[in-house]
Amino acid sequence: MMFISITLAIWLAISQVQCLVQKDDVGKLPALGWNSWNAFACDINETKLLTAANQIVSLGLKDSGYEYVNIDDCWAVKSGRDNKTGQIIPDPIKFPSGIDGLAKSIHSLGLKIGIYGSAGTETCAGYPAQLGHEYLDAATFAAWGIDYFKYDNCYVPSNWTDPYDACVPDQWQKYGPFVNGTCAKSSTDAPTGYNWSTSNTAHRYAIMRDALLAQNRTILYSLCEWGQADVVTWGNATGNSWRMSGDINPWWARVAEILNENTFLLNSVNFWGHNDMDMLEIGNGNLTLAESRSHFAFWAAMKSPLIIGTALDVLPATHVAILRNKYLLAFHQDPLFGAPATPYKWGTNPDWTFNATNPAEYWSGESSQGTLVLALNTLGTKAPKTIVWKEVPHLEKEHDAFQVTDIWSGESLGCVSKGIEIKVEAHDTVGYIVGEKCAPMFSS
Ligand SMILES: *[C@@H]1O[C@H](CO)[C@@H](O)[C@H](O)[C@H]1NC(C)=O
Ligand SMILES: *[C@@H]1O[C@H](CO)[C@@H](O)[C@H](O)[C@H]1NC(C)=O
Ligand SMILES: *[C@@H]1O[C@H](CO)[C@@H](O)[C@H](O)[C@H]1NC(C)=O
Ligand SMILES: *[C@@H]1O[C@H](CO)[C@@H](O)[C@H](O)[C@H]1NC(C)=O
Ligand SMILES: *[C@@H]1O[C@H](CO)[C@@H](O)[C@H](O)[C@H]1NC(C)=O
Ligand SMILES: *[C@@H]1O[C@H](CO)[C@@H](O)[C@H](O)[C@H]1NC(C)=O
Ligand SMILES: *[C@@H]1O[C@H](CO)[C@@H](O)[C@H](O)[C@H]1NC(C)=O
Ligand SMILES: *[C@@H]1O[C@H](CO)[C@@H](O)[C@H](O)[C@H]1NC(C)=O
Ligand SMILES: *[C@@H]1O[C@H](CO)[C@@H](O)[C@H](O)[C@H]1NC(C)=O
Repeated sequence: MMFISITLAIWLAISQVQCLVQKDDVGKLPALGWNSWNAFACDINETKLLTAANQIVSLGLKDSGYEYVNIDDCWAVKSGRDNKTGQIIPDPIKFPSGIDGLAKSIHSLGLKIGIYGSAGTETCAGYPAQLGHEYLDAATFAAWGIDYFKYDNCYVPSNWTDPYDACVPDQWQKYGPFVNGTCAKSSTDAPTGYNWSTSNTAHRYAIMRDALLAQNRTILYSLCEWGQADVVTWGNATGNSWRMSGDINPWWARVAEILNENTFLLNSVNFWGHNDMDMLEIGNGNLTLAESRSHFAFWAAMKSPLIIGTALDVLPATHVAILRNKYLLAFHQDPLFGAPATPYKWGTNPDWTFNATNPAEYWSGESSQGTLVLALNTLGTKAPKTIVWKEVPHLEKEHDAFQVTDIWSGESLGCVSKGIEIKVEAHDTVGYIVGEKCAPMFSS
């Protein structure tokens, strides 16, 4: 008992002084990369990872800033660890060059490599995982040349689960009545004022943080705890990004649902700490081109990590163009403005409505290139949307004409007074960079 409480005290002392500010600005801005899961699930191997890496270079995605090539679940020998060293063994059939060999190839392309694990006894697909092996595995990953670690939340033993139910964004609606970013009291049995930083979940993720920080290698730390244990209150002290929801799916209803939930969680987003809305589904499932534009625009505008999740060698040029949108990427990677875009008006629903199918439609955010303004059509049919400059929080109220650039066409619309009224396709998003104030040629 004495020993346990001393150990806990040391852990608390350490965890209080550490914020996850890493060397070389790693993790200051939300990550850009690719991950194998949404494209291939367990069916991965060295060839597929190298194909993705080469495509990132040849499609110009590297030039656009994408840098991480991340292996998800199913990379290890499933039957167990090395009996002598205790290390996880890379599957020699899937990865004949080993993870270190693959890392060398990916590094030689000027890219970085990520790997996956779970804060439990097995990964979600049943492979060896990190709980109880954190320092050994972190050292192994560092020795292999790993630059990014995604930490999932499967197979948590019962003594490591939390005694209370947290307020999970995916269940806000289910447990209503919704009260603006938190659950109704009936949905959680934690005592009032319970500090989720002291939960077992936070502790499991903090042990791995300390193990990664103990390595002589900068490894970006991506928490995949599905929005549990009120992660927005401790994520920033623990990882570079944290999942704010359960898994994404490649259809619009789920994209809109996550967009809606994250709308109420944006206070936790700024430099060094980002809500992860989960990996991109562009190129997958039945998302239309319009839905793919909206998916990308809002993941970028809310400064979620942008991790591509599709087979790049068969991705149509229309979709590659979305992933390379220079205005959205410049907003996402802005070195001077860390805050996400936020809604200034809901549109279809009254302001501050929590609604999974029809979230907030009118958004704006500040950036070095000007004010980003987005208008989303949440309806299933084409509809007019009206952006009024005087309603946009970041624009000078006493002025009413600005230089405007369309983010999708890249075309300058010149000096635009009053605002923009435009018909928007179902589930599509129009977007503008609103820049210098100007004098319109014709007053209206
Ligand atoms: C990876 O899988 C692909 C498709 O099944 C196959 O063509 C390729 O040879 C495999 N590579 C390795 C290293 O197993
Ligand atoms: C470890 O040892 C056990 C028992 O001897 C054996 O069944 C297992 O295959 C070994 N695991 C590895 C990864 O070598
Ligand atoms: C759960 O049990 C394991 C094995 O006995 C132990 O190492 C670990 O510290 C326990 N976890 C907690 C939170 O007490
Ligand atoms: C919800 O929270 C936001 C931001 O914290 C606040 O500006 C807004 O007024 C709140 N809305 C309601 C209806 O409480
Ligand atoms: C919650 O616990 C953490 C870790 O012990 C501590 O740093 C933080 O100050 C606590 N927060 C509050 C509001 O008490
Ligand atoms: C850490 O790594 C760098 C280069 O990767 C090396 O120069 C340095 O000696 C290492 N430091 C320690 C303490 O191992
Ligand atoms: C997260 O932590 C970093 C580093 O301490 C800090 O700069 C940043 O403002 C924090 N983010 C938020 C939203 O508080
Ligand atoms: C897309 O796929 C999902 C899941 O299969 C389905 O529920 C949805 O109806 C589909 N949407 C369209 C427009 O086909
Ligand atoms: C969401 O908003 C739409 C549009 O106002 C409405 O038709 C729908 O009933 C709302 N959904 C819920 C669950 O309230």
